[in-house]
Amino acid sequence: AAGVMTALEGRLQPERFGDLPSSLWWAVVLLTKLGQSDAVPLTIAGKCFAVIMMLVGIGFIALPVGIIGRAFYDEIRRRDFVVTFAMVARVPLFRDLDPASIAGLVALLRSRKLPAGSVVMRRGDAADAMYFITEGGVDVSLGGTTVSRLGAGDYFGEMALATPGPRSATVTTTVPTDVLVLDKGDFARLMQSRPELEDAIRATAAARKAEL
Ligand code: CMP
Repeated sequence: AAGVMTALEGRLQPERFGDLPSSLWWAVVLLTKLGQSDAVPLTIAGKCFAVIMMLVGIGFIALPVGIIGRAFYDEIRRRDFVVTFAMVARVPLFRDLDPASIAGLVALLRSRKLPAGSVVMRRGDAADAMYFITEGGVDVSLGGTTVSRLGAGDYFGEMALATPGPRSATVTTTVPTDVLVLDKGDFARLMQSRPELEDAIRATAAARKAEL
C-alpha cells in the first residue's frame, strides 16, 4: 500500500508520500484505524486505492478478531454446556417436580465437563457445592479404597452440605463426566423451599454415612 501510494501521490505531495517511510505511516494508520494521519490522497487513483485499502483494513483487523473469538467460544463450550430443562428433568431426584420448579432449577444449576481422572473433591475439603451426574461416572473412595461407584442420575457431595462439615470421601471421575453443580447457598434455599427434596437427600446422606 505504501509503495503504491508513493507512486500515485509522491510527486503531488512529496512531504507526505514522497518516500516509502512517509507512505508507510499513512498505510499503517489507514489499515489499523489507529493513530492520526493528515495525509490524504488528492488524485482520483489515490483516493480509489485508499478506499480499497480501507476495506482491506477492516478485513485485516476483523479476521483475526473473529478467529480468536471463535476459539474462545469453542474452548468455553468444551468445558461447560448449556443446562436444559430435559437434563434437569432426567435427574431421578427431580423427576416428580412440577415444570415450574424444574425451570427454576435450570437457572440455579451450572454445568461442568470433567475429564476422566479429575478429583472433584478430596476427603477433608471444605464443601461449596453438590453435583448431579448427567453423563459418565465417579469413584467414591476412602484412603485409596473404592467405597462406591456412581453414574448418570446419581448425585454426590450432598453429605457435607446436609450436615455441615468437611467432605467425607474423595470423588474422582472414572470416565469423561458431565455434572450439574448446585452451589451451597442455592442448596440451602432449595432445601428450605422443597422439604420433600430435603428429606430424600438427608435419607441418602444418612445411608451413605452408615455405609462409610
Ligand atoms: P460429601 O461428604 O459432601 O463429599 C464426598 C461425597 O461422597 C459424599 O458427600 C457423598 O456424596 C459421597 N459418598 C460418601 N460415601 C458414600 C457411599 N457410601 N456411597 C456413595 N457415595 C458416597
